[in-house]
Amino acid sequence: MRCAVLGTGIVGRTIAAKLASLGHEVVIGTRDPEATLARTERDVMGNPPFAAWHVDHPAIALRAFAEAAAFGETVVNATAGLATLDALNAAGGANLAGKVLIDVANALDFSQGMPPSLNPVNTDSLGEQIQRAFPDAKVVKTLNTMSCFVMVEPGRLAGAHHVFVSGEDADAKRQVVELLVSFGWPESSVIDLGGIESARGTEMLLPIWVRLMGILGHVDFNFHIQGAG
Ligand SMILES: NC(=O)c1ccc[n+]([C@@H]2O[C@H](COP(=O)([O-])OP(=O)(O)OC[C@H]3O[C@@H](n4cnc5c(N)ncnc54)[C@H](OP(=O)(O)O)[C@@H]3O)[C@@H](O)[C@H]2O)c1
Repeated sequence: MRCAVLGTGIVGRTIAAKLASLGHEVVIGTRDPEATLARTERDVMGNPPFAAWHVDHPAIALRAFAEAAAFGETVVNATAGLATLDALNAAGGANLAGKVLIDVANALDFSQGMPPSLNPVNTDSLGEQIQRAFPDAKVVKTLNTMSCFVMVEPGRLAGAHHVFVSGEDADAKRQVVELLVSFGWPESSVIDLGGIESARGTEMLLPIWVRLMGILGHVDFNFHIQGAG
């Protein structure tokens, strides 16, 4: 399958590498490929600049958001949550129309420091905002409730743990579940929460996820819903 992963941070890189390892054709999307490749500094989490990662993944092309989205039969949104609508507008509605748009982003606002707040929250969610802005895309919110390392390698955590899916289109969700299974998720670990409105719940798990990260001192954990199978 041709996949576009929008986002050059650790999440986009990790998902893109996983998809490529599974035999998919993968393109990563960014605002300005030249500027992204020219960066030499580590990000705030200490991850190396994109170019250093790209040396080890030469088969994954870096393209502007619109070109990447046009390439992808399936599109993954792994952009900063507060910038997601800008990034998807740059990708272009026509390049997203009719496609499964997997949204793993969280709209975390760090402008007041730690812990971040959520915007939107309670009566809206980023997943819903994306679906409203791009009504012809089939938005499926998933994987946003865990670190990107767990997203693509659930077996790194012992025992059962869960991943949620939210979205309006049943066939799109079925395709996403197939992809999750190919990532190593047992189908019994996938909980379909219903329509895209249910993304409010998974996005609002982030305050407890961020708190747990601080207390545990690592990101190798996930939610297990006792009684869910
Ligand atoms: N870290 C995790 O394990 C984890 C887990 C679950 C969910 N998430 C979510 O996954 C997403 C990606 O996280 P990340 O840490 O990999 O990267 P990030 O730093 O949150 O986002 C980087 C991406 O956002 C784009 N971006 C930033 N500002 C922009 C703007 N003004 N307009 C358009 N695009 C803009 C960047 O574009 P350029 O490429 O042009 O710089 C880059 O591609 C976030 O929403 C995060 O909350 C993260």
